Amino acid sequence: MKNIVILVSGSGTNLQRIIDSIESGDIQNAKVSLVVADRECYGLERAANHKIDNVLIPRGKNFSSELDKIIPQDTDLIVLAGFLSILKPEFCENWNGKIINIHPALLPKFGGKGMWGMNVHHAVIEAGEKESGATVHFVTSGIDEGEAILQKSFEVTENDTAETLAEKVHLVEYEIFPTAINKVLGN
Ligand code: GAR
Repeated sequence: MKNIVILVSGSGTNLQRIIDSIESGDIQNAKVSLVVADRECYGLERAANHKIDNVLIPRGKNFSSELDKIIPQDTDLIVLAGFLSILKPEFCENWNGKIINIHPALLPKFGGKGMWGMNVHHAVIEAGEKESGATVHFVTSGIDEGEAILQKSFEVTENDTAETLAEKVHLVEYEIFPTAINKVLGN
């Protein structure tokens, strides 16, 4: 059984998708051993609803070192599911190849500092992009720079707004995240 730790900052619909995928058997041979949030958010409640251990470590310069103290050493995979803090380079190096993130755009486009959540969708609309999508990638010390694991795109239409893109991207995320996790776990 592989142990997954999930980091969240917000509503946690991707966290929910992962929990549901484990419960339904779509993600095999894995359990969520811990959910960590960097702020008060609904993601913590989702974890509690499923009796998953959950901890709040306030965001800030000590987040990575505090996480390091509590993360179980037998953790096989750390999943960033709508997590908005930047992990320290030493933490990323210690867990190299074992941290993955979901990003709401087609990396390497629309990644890097400041490119998160709705900011990404506004930037995609302003740039007049013909397509958008989501990317699951390994986390390294360079923001959104790690190797892509899975990516899926869709067409951006004339009527799309940042809000409709956010909805469409979420649907793509729910599709590719469990597949990417299975892939990384070797399932
Ligand atoms: C997701 O769209 C995820 O890609 C994005 O935040 C949203 C969280 O939604 N992550 C980032 O922007 C990280 N750079 P959720 O809380 O409903 O899963």
